[in-house]
Amino acid sequence: MQSRLVTMEEGGTTNPIRTNQSRVFPSRLLRSMLFLLVAGIVLSVISIRMYRNLGVGSRVSGALQACFQEPISLHHLIIKPPSYNKHTMNDSELLWRASFVPQIKEYPFKRVPKIAFMFLARGPLPLSPLWEKFFVGNEGLYSIYVHSLPHYVSNFSTSSVFYGKQIPSQTVEWGRMSMCDAERRLLANALLDISNEWFVLLSEACIPLHNFSIIYRYISRSRFSFMGAVDELGPYGRGRYDINMLPEVNISQWRKGSQWFETNRKLAVDIIKDTKFYPKFNQFCRPACYVDEHYFPTMLTIQSPSLLANRSLTYVDWSRGGAHPATFGKNDVSNNFFKKIREDQTCIYNNQPTSVCFLFARKFAPSALEALLQNSLDFFGY
Ligand SMILES: *[C@@H]1O[C@H](CO)[C@@H](O)[C@H](O)[C@H]1NC(C)=O
Ligand SMILES: *[C@@H]1O[C@H](CO)[C@@H](O)[C@H](O)[C@H]1NC(C)=O
Ligand SMILES: *[C@@H]1O[C@H](CO)[C@@H](O)[C@H](O)[C@H]1NC(C)=O
Ligand SMILES: *[C@@H]1O[C@H](CO)[C@@H](O)[C@H](O)[C@H]1NC(C)=O
Ligand SMILES: *[C@@H]1O[C@H](CO)[C@@H](O)[C@H](O)[C@H]1NC(C)=O
Repeated sequence: MQSRLVTMEEGGTTNPIRTNQSRVFPSRLLRSMLFLLVAGIVLSVISIRMYRNLGVGSRVSGALQACFQEPISLHHLIIKPPSYNKHTMNDSELLWRASFVPQIKEYPFKRVPKIAFMFLARGPLPLSPLWEKFFVGNEGLYSIYVHSLPHYVSNFSTSSVFYGKQIPSQTVEWGRMSMCDAERRLLANALLDISNEWFVLLSEACIPLHNFSIIYRYISRSRFSFMGAVDELGPYGRGRYDINMLPEVNISQWRKGSQWFETNRKLAVDIIKDTKFYPKFNQFCRPACYVDEHYFPTMLTIQSPSLLANRSLTYVDWSRGGAHPATFGKNDVSNNFFKKIREDQTCIYNNQPTSVCFLFARKFAPSALEALLQNSLDFFGY
């Protein structure tokens, strides 16, 4: 700035006032530079004294260190932070952090949308070898998160896709709010990865019924999220509604659906940020009201009915009756059995009828693993 100013003054010789200024200018400049020099020396003497005598050394060296650290890029900050699954945030901190939503819709980097596979398990994942086979060759298109009981330590080898995928977990009681808390914890951890676009909740007894490309295409091209949500009459549906839920939820808004859902990123954020419905379900939906079958389906039906497919992607067999669905062992596993599940149904996909209704199935016992592994190419195409 100063050098440009001087050049201008030199060029403006025809203007008497300017000529005058240009003569005064150098001595003023000299004086102020001298002042700055003296001030600088005084300041550095003072700071060296403080550094030595007042014990602020660590703060000063901290600041110095910060100056020389490598600058942080968007890549390290947002796109690929060091590790997603290791953090010390508690639930309130985690949910708050996970609720961040970018306000500029266009990403300033190439974002390949991923499916987050979220396993809600007690301990081990006995069917993990089948999942390993399913994931092979699809790196970059999926993420994995595992919530298990807090004391459980998994022993996956470093070459496993499940290695290091356990998230900080807490105790879960069947049919209680702690179950929804665990699901929200899984969603929130998965939301920390900006590339996760779809979120699938699975159990340790779930298996994939198709190869990865079919499943990725089915989920990514759907205009609706696969949250089961029906208005069921009778004791196990509307019968579980409590009038105390008013005014947030009235009887005709009450929904029931399978716990095993798939949602897009928007609905995942809606679930983890909710503070309006949570207290009502926490207080007034307790066994025999199973909150994991009602909370998310009801809340999303009220908030975003047009985004829901109202059906689950996970096949479950309730035909045997009772509080728990059928478990399949090695004697149940056959091509015919899976053909029936995979094709002998009709449902609606993007407003069109289709025979592909289920992408996942449960419940499978560990004893089924060997037969599933041997025939997975025949049965499922992977
Ligand atoms: C998380 O930690 C913060 C700060 O210590 C605390 O205010 C908050 O109550 C904690 N939340 C939970 C759920 O423990
Ligand atoms: C993990 O532990 C289980 C039993 O605790 C054992 O059967 C299995 O072989 C172990 N797996 C590995 C990879 O070490
Ligand atoms: C997935 O399965 C479909 C149908 O069975 C098949 O056409 C496709 O080639 C398979 N994709 C891969 C990558 O194996
Ligand atoms: C429930 O609330 C909705 C939306 O406010 C309303 O349209 C509906 O009539 C209500 N149903 C009952 C039974 O009160
Ligand atoms: C799901 O149900 C809601 C009402 O509960 C409805 O508004 C919505 O259109 C349904 N979705 C589909 C895909 O039919």
